[in-house]
Amino acid sequence: MIDHLGRRITYLRISVTELCNLRCRYCMPAEGVCKKDHSDMLTEDEMILAVEAAASLGITKLRVTGGEPLIKKNIVSICRRAAAVPGIREVCLTTNGLLLPQLAKPLREAGVRRLNLSLDTLDPEKYAYITRIGNLDTFWAGFHAAMDAGFEKIKLNAVLMGGVNDDEIPALAQLTRKYPVDMRFIEMMPMYDGGDFDTSAYIPYTKVLEKLPEAHPVPGDGGVAKLYRLPGALGNIGLISPVSAHFCAACNRIRLTADGRIKPCLHSSEEYSLKGMDFAGMRARLEQAILSKPAWHGDLNPVHRSRAGRNMNQIGG
Ligand code: GTP
Ligand code: 5AD
Ligand code: SF4
Repeated sequence: MIDHLGRRITYLRISVTELCNLRCRYCMPAEGVCKKDHSDMLTEDEMILAVEAAASLGITKLRVTGGEPLIKKNIVSICRRAAAVPGIREVCLTTNGLLLPQLAKPLREAGVRRLNLSLDTLDPEKYAYITRIGNLDTFWAGFHAAMDAGFEKIKLNAVLMGGVNDDEIPALAQLTRKYPVDMRFIEMMPMYDGGDFDTSAYIPYTKVLEKLPEAHPVPGDGGVAKLYRLPGALGNIGLISPVSAHFCAACNRIRLTADGRIKPCLHSSEEYSLKGMDFAGMRARLEQAILSKPAWHGDLNPVHRSRAGRNMNQIGG
């Protein structure tokens, strides 16, 4: 479907849970998330119905997110059923990777084609600090399980945090020489309750280029990322700049939250509930949501924080 500004909406991000086995400082509060009542969340059948309704309006790509999608007990079944919906050409998933030793193979077999994994640092102590509770060895075990499972593409995501991981830009970028993966650097978005970082921690994507003088631009569809490459590398460097250079004019996405709300824009509080609806009801709501997609997400900076009304774990990025 095409929105009122001529943007073709083909990509749906589905958050299957707000819960997570980490507590990343830029994403959610230290105490985690207040568990909501089961009856407020979408059931698996409702998620699949929503995918069917979205596919009937021209959605061809799904990205499954969270919270952490792999802690959802029925995640493999959700992915398998979503991948089988007519019109859906690819199901991708974004995860922190910790549960991939058990789940990489089943997810691949269920039809998940591509994975994005969060990796903000190569230093075990910093990893424990950023995620508040994570263990970097567990991440690497998940990464290798994903490499072995034969996904078509693996991308690594690092959120840039001044004074925390900006000194690791070259080392993280080197991973593209060692493995056939893309390494993406993401500007930290100031979410609703502020997260744990003050404004001095924000780093613009241009700083990444300063630290990687060898990187040269490459053409290609990086989605929200501008693509670069190091000489001799096996994968690309991606720069994601929602704060300093937004990409709203080319945005092709809508989002579905775990509690069943369609968000036409990541940073708007406008939401359309699909909870409890049948196919026709969901389809009509989705149409309404797409037609109301804002032109852009507005300024994002310390003064103009995200107006999403939710933290990142409650949207899915
Ligand atoms: P692919 O293009 O399919 O690889 O996915 P992606 O890069 O959009 O997905 P991923 O879940 O890895 O998200 C990477 C970063 O981009 C996260 O920080 C997201 O919050 C951010 N992001 C994804 N989509 C949007 C968007 O539409 N707007 C903004 N502002 N940020 C986005
Ligand atoms: N700003 C930018 N990216 C974020 N992510 C989580 N919170 C933020 C934020 N405040 C990233 C995660 C994950 C992706 C889905 O979103 O690192 O890779
Ligand atoms: Fe969990 Fe991802 Fe948020 Fe980290 S960024 S707390 S892994 S949902």
